[in-house]
Amino acid sequence: SRCFAIVPAAGSGSRMKSEQPKQYLSLLGQPLIRHTLAALCAAPVIDRVYVVLSVGDQEWDKHDWRPFGDRLVPLFCGGASRADSVLNGLRAIADDTSEYDWILVHDAARPCLAPWHVESLVRELLHDEVGGILAVPVADTLKREDSTHRVAATVPREGLWQAQTPQMFRNVMLKRALESARNVTDEASAIEAMGLRPRLVRGDPTNLKVTFPLDLHLAEWILQHRED
Ligand code: C5P
Repeated sequence: SRCFAIVPAAGSGSRMKSEQPKQYLSLLGQPLIRHTLAALCAAPVIDRVYVVLSVGDQEWDKHDWRPFGDRLVPLFCGGASRADSVLNGLRAIADDTSEYDWILVHDAARPCLAPWHVESLVRELLHDEVGGILAVPVADTLKREDSTHRVAATVPREGLWQAQTPQMFRNVMLKRALESARNVTDEASAIEAMGLRPRLVRGDPTNLKVTFPLDLHLAEWILQHRED
């Protein structure tokens, strides 16, 4: 079975307080998503990288994607939610993939994906029954609030992980999961809702998701200080 990447990039980026969708914000002089796609296209284990853009995307065609060649395929079929975008992508590529191929879903907004992140994930999961995700152990102690912003409970961080991407599952299983559980914030929760248990593969915090303006600076710093 082969490995394909799907990159949902059809979000509006409302938390960034910017007019431009965050995947196109400038990071080291290039659109953020270009770093993300470069990292995935450079991974020898990945056969092809599909990027799911919103139907009305005005920005994609302004950039030159030819250096990526035919390893990169844009699909203008984004949906109302991240899960819908991924599902639309899976449907769009159905004729070019088999049911048992692995799909690595990776956020456009994680531009600091390193080669070893992809290699660890695929090495650990290639023969797995279910698949799994990159994740990092939670560092902070967590508090659950009550309705007055007081602490209702302390959630012990022991055994808690932060989910990252890529999230790697079999094509047919992922499609089935997303078709039945639509209100999910990641692919793993849809798989879990089918009663399956995705594996946690340890990544590291440099694979951050650019969500708030500070994250852009952190991402630039990480990319500039990477030794490879
Ligand atoms: O908003 P959030 O950071 O959770 O988005 C995660 C990823 O999902 C982003 O890469 C975003 O572009 C993508 N997304 C999408 N379609 C949507 C909403 C988000 O492809 N409708």
